[in-house]
Amino acid sequence: MMMEGAFSRFEHEGWERVADKYDSVWSSLTRQFIPCLINDAKVSAGMSVLDVACGPGYVSAAVKKLGAVPKGVDFSGNMIAVARAMLPDISFVQGDAQHLPFEDASFDRVLVNFGLLHVSDPEKACAEASRVLKSSGRFGFTVWAGPEENPGAKIVNDAIEAHADLNVGLPEGPPHYLYGERQECRTVLEQTGFDGSSMSYETHTVEWRLPTASYFFEAERDAAVRTAGLLARQSPERLEAIRTAIEKGIEQYAKGNEFVIPMAAHVVVVSKS
Ligand SMILES: C[S@@+](CC[C@H](N)C(=O)[O-])C[C@H]1O[C@@H](n2cnc3c(N)ncnc32)[C@H](O)[C@@H]1O
Repeated sequence: MMMEGAFSRFEHEGWERVADKYDSVWSSLTRQFIPCLINDAKVSAGMSVLDVACGPGYVSAAVKKLGAVPKGVDFSGNMIAVARAMLPDISFVQGDAQHLPFEDASFDRVLVNFGLLHVSDPEKACAEASRVLKSSGRFGFTVWAGPEENPGAKIVNDAIEAHADLNVGLPEGPPHYLYGERQECRTVLEQTGFDGSSMSYETHTVEWRLPTASYFFEAERDAAVRTAGLLARQSPERLEAIRTAIEKGIEQYAKGNEFVIPMAAHVVVVSKS
């Protein structure tokens, strides 16, 4: 798939590279927010649901269990191949969240689980969600909460702030904690075709259970895209300092023979205006 712009190309190459590792590394975290997302979005049987930036298709699988009719879209061909292999009964198509390959007013719900911060123009993705929604449709998405209310993110954030060289020529993308402010989020949604007064904005915290203190660092290094790009451009000394700082942070959450990390995200749902 042809991608315009340095950030989109960087993201696209990155997701193509990690697609086969994503499920084993991240699903234990990102899936945990889906019950809240589909509950707040009031998904019910018979509805048509578009799962944008679907990855391996977790949202699609969850709404299908409710009797809804999902369709997944992701710009990574390798992710789409993983989704089709895992869920052969669900329709998955390759496409960009900023130019959805669907007609206007096609879906009852559009859901995006941890996709918007990977898109070079998240506002365009919101406007596209609005375009493909039916008139009474709802748009729901998750974004990571910032370090001050997200202990797991704080561990990684603090380690990077303390030890990383940030001037390594990574293409600029949206903020890591996109739409972290309720009012800012509402304003963007009002400008992209939604009824701000209908917005629900809930901060939801889950427990991510990790088998080792090095899991989080290795996940970021080996199976992520933006942080992986930053880590790949560090000197060996800086990389080691980041690894040690993250491991120390994780060790504070030891419980029995695992590490239980609180991870928080904002779950946002809004109706088309
Ligand atoms: C963090 S993963 C989320 C996957 C899945 N939704 C989940 O719940 O775990 C981000 C996904 O966004 C996709 N993505 C990033 N930018 C995209 C874009 N512009 N259009 C469509 N998909 C995109 C990536 O290929 C990747 O599968």
